[in-house]
Amino acid sequence: MSGTVEIARDGGVLTLTMNRPEKKNALTDAMYGAMADAMEEGESDPAVRVAVIRSEGDLFCAGNDIGDFLASSGRVGEANVFRFIRLLGQFTKPLLAGVQGRAVGIGTTMLLHCDYVVLAQDAKLTTPFVGLGLVPEAASSLLLPGAIGHQRAFAMLAMGDAMEADAALAAGLANQVVANADLQGATTEAAKRIAALPPGAVQATKALMRDPGMVAAKMEAEIEIFAHRLQSDEAREAFTAFMEKRAPDFSKY
Ligand code: COA
Repeated sequence: MSGTVEIARDGGVLTLTMNRPEKKNALTDAMYGAMADAMEEGESDPAVRVAVIRSEGDLFCAGNDIGDFLASSGRVGEANVFRFIRLLGQFTKPLLAGVQGRAVGIGTTMLLHCDYVVLAQDAKLTTPFVGLGLVPEAASSLLLPGAIGHQRAFAMLAMGDAMEADAALAAGLANQVVANADLQGATTEAAKRIAALPPGAVQATKALMRDPGMVAAKMEAEIEIFAHRLQSDEAREAFTAFMEKRAPDFSKY
């Protein structure tokens, strides 16, 4: 299956670039694996001070590859997607993201684990889990209500409502909104600024601000239900409808 993740190092900045623009950067198991490997290496290499997630193309990330969802077995908890998700919650160094266009599903929920988020003017965050017969993942059922309040989080997580860049900034989900042409520059500038800080103090501050135990517990609870939902008739109908480019029909459930 096509799709790569490019890994680059510039001084203390490790950059992970999702590069599957022809499929809107939908993430395959191999791509999650590459991202998880890079994060593990970044975690253990003291020369890495910060990590940045970005992507090529007009759209940040269309979420999990829906064909992979359809093909998935019940052993989903062992897939690279969950290795990547667990690492998001455990990564001790600052994590940044630069987001253009749509960020769907995990494209949005990964941002909740970032310490600094730059959005391009056209960024649009959506978490259409329920419309796919699924439930939220990556501890978003904990982190999103915590960040923006239960009601607005419900509209996103259950009703699939989108949040545009300026609203996301106002809601506290991002640090900056910039013109699309300035996205990479603004993200790199923030990454270099953080990378120049004393790393021990930065990491200790991040550790004080986050509760990995609580995040991990919520992730595991979500994964159990998510894995069950993936095999549900509702989800099968939603995935098949997407692949067949038609509207799903949930009337029989
Ligand atoms: N999984 C698999 N393939 C995907 C995909 C996904 N999550 N998202 C997009 N693609 C594919 C499309 O099937 C299409 O493939 P094709 O060219 O072979 O027909 C290609 O990427 C381009 O997508 P398209 O829908 O034509 O682009 P768009 O700009 O009109 O819309 C999105 C972009 C992201 C709004 C739309 O593709 C979409 O809704 N994707 C699904 C998002 C989703 O539900 N993800 C799961 C979240 S849990």
